[in-house]
Amino acid sequence: MAVKNAMTADFLRSAFGGESMAHMRYLIWAEMADKEQMPNIGRLFRAIAYAEWAHADNHFRVLKEQVGDATVAAGAVFGAGKTVDNLQGAIDGELHEVEQMYPVYLETARCQNERAAERAFHFALEAEKIHVRLFQEAQAAAQQGRDMELGTVYVCPVCGHTTTDLPDACPVCGLDKGKYKHFTA
Ligand SMILES: [Fe+2]
Ligand SMILES: [Fe+2]
Repeated sequence: MAVKNAMTADFLRSAFGGESMAHMRYLIWAEMADKEQMPNIGRLFRAIAYAEWAHADNHFRVLKEQVGDATVAAGAVFGAGKTVDNLQGAIDGELHEVEQMYPVYLETARCQNERAAERAFHFALEAEKIHVRLFQEAQAAAQQGRDMELGTVYVCPVCGHTTTDLPDACPVCGLDKGKYKHFTA
């Protein structure tokens, strides 16, 4: 179901751009973490990069038949520094999405009766809340100069739900646990 209203379409393009960049940013920062001997933090970045891909994929599909540029309101930093600083960039970007961007986008989609966009924004918002927490855990370890403790990370390929504790079904979109993607050490 394609988007009909210009404002929701703008927000979808912005979100597609933001998620696409977050995906790449996290893959770059994963390499940096590996080089600093923090493979678990590297793996967390890769797992969350996959979740951001799922969000971009959802936004992209709702944008079917739309053409044009996108101004990206991602609130995120550029460049690769030390992992502890990269994690702060990740936390800041995720917080921007949780506190400002997705609540506004979600409410707009609701007001404009854009059900497909509403679904895509809702999925992203719920996942980003978890990403903030996981990145904060990673940063607490990195600040002490060590890698984080991290079991397998499971990511729902439909909504990007990210967890270290595999549920029977995704609590956000209902997908069966057998379909989760595993990021194992
Ligand atoms: Fe995220
Ligand atoms: Fe899900």
